[in-house]
Amino acid sequence: APIPNTLNLPVRARELLRIVDAPSAFSQRWVRDEWLADPEALVLGGASNILFVRTEVGKAMSLGTSTYGAIDLGDRVRVFADGGVGLDEWVRWTAAQGWYGLERLAEIPGTVGAAPIQNVGAYGVQISDVLDAVALWDRHKQEYVVWRAEECGLSYRHSRFKEEPGRWLVLRIWVTLSKHAPRDWPHLGYPGLESAAARYLESVERAAHGLTPAELATIVTDVRRQKLPDWRSDTIGSVGSFFQNPIVARELAANLAERWPDMPQYPQDTQERVKLSAGWLIERAGWKGKTVDAAGMSEIHALVLVNHGGATGQALWDVAQQVQADVYSQFGVRLEPEPLIWQ
Ligand code: EPU
Repeated sequence: APIPNTLNLPVRARELLRIVDAPSAFSQRWVRDEWLADPEALVLGGASNILFVRTEVGKAMSLGTSTYGAIDLGDRVRVFADGGVGLDEWVRWTAAQGWYGLERLAEIPGTVGAAPIQNVGAYGVQISDVLDAVALWDRHKQEYVVWRAEECGLSYRHSRFKEEPGRWLVLRIWVTLSKHAPRDWPHLGYPGLESAAARYLESVERAAHGLTPAELATIVTDVRRQKLPDWRSDTIGSVGSFFQNPIVARELAANLAERWPDMPQYPQDTQERVKLSAGWLIERAGWKGKTVDAAGMSEIHALVLVNHGGATGQALWDVAQQVQADVYSQFGVRLEPEPLIWQ
C-alpha cells in the first residue's frame, strides 16, 4: 500500500495495519507479537515529519482512532484527543470553543500522537506548556502506561520518547486550557506575527487584547502559509523545518557573534547556552533557494528542505547532508535533522 507523505515521496508499505479500536486490537496476541513487538514495524502518524530514504517499508501501522473531547473544570478545561487525531483539526476545535493555550499551534501538520514525541511548538508555545498526561503503549514491555507530563522529559523539540525511537505508541494525550485570556494576552512576540495581527486588528477596528483564540489561530495560519510550503500540496513537498535550531555553548556563540555581528542569537534560560537560527546559518552558507535537480532548500525559508517534484528520498537526504557539511565547515556548528530519517 502507498504511504502518503508530505515530502511527496513514492514509498510503499508491504503490510499496513490500521488500528481502529486500540483496546480490542491490543488484546489480540497476533497484534501484540507480530506488530507491536516487532521493532521493524514503523508507527506512522501523518507522515509529515519523516524522510523516507528507502522506497519500501516492510510493516507500517497507524492509529485510526479519532475521538477528542473535554471535561469542564470551571475556569479551565481538560481536553483530550486520541493519537490518531489530526493536530490541526484538534487545535482549531479548541480555539473555536474560545479556549486559550493551543491556538499558536494552528496549521501544523501531523497527528496528536506525534506532538509530545518531538514536543511540537511554534510562536513561543510548545505542547509541553499545556500537557498533563500521555497514555502510551510500551512496545518493549507490551503494556499500557500513563505518564504525567513531567515524566516525559520534554524540552525544545525533544522528549524521552525520542531517545528510544519506536518504543512508544501514543494512544491519547490530555492538556489543560483556560477559558480566560492570560494576563499578557495576546503576547505576540514575533515580528511576523505582530505585523499580521496589526493588519488584522486594523481591518476589524479592535484592540489586540480583544483577539479571540480562533482569530489568533487564523493569523498564525496566514503567517505560516507565507513562510512554509502548504503541507497539503502535492506539487511541492516538505516537512517544515528540516533541522533543529542548534543550541550551543555560550563561548562558541560569543566567538560567532564576533565574526558575524548580525547573527541572530537567543540566550536560553540558564544563559549558559544560546540558540542559533538554523535558517540564518543555511542562508549564509549559500543554500537558500539552491536546488540539485528537484531537491533543494526553499527560496522562501532556508530551513525548509523541498521536493520540487520527482526527487528521491536519497537525493533529498544528500542535499540535507551537504547543507550540514557546509554549515559545519563555515561555522563549526552541527545541525541535527528534526524529522525522522527512515533508511
Ligand atoms: N532566517 C534567515 N533566513 C531564512 C530563514 C530564517 O536568516 O531563510 C532567520 C531570521 O533571522 C529569522 C530567524 O531565522 O528571524 C527565525 O526564523 P523563523 O521565525 O521563521 O523561525 P525558525 O526558527 O526558522 C521555528 C520553528 C518552526 C516554527 C517557527 C515559529 C524550529 C526548527 N522551527 O522556525 O517550526 O513554526 O520557529 O515559531 O524550531 C517546524 O518545526 O517544522 C516548524 C516550522
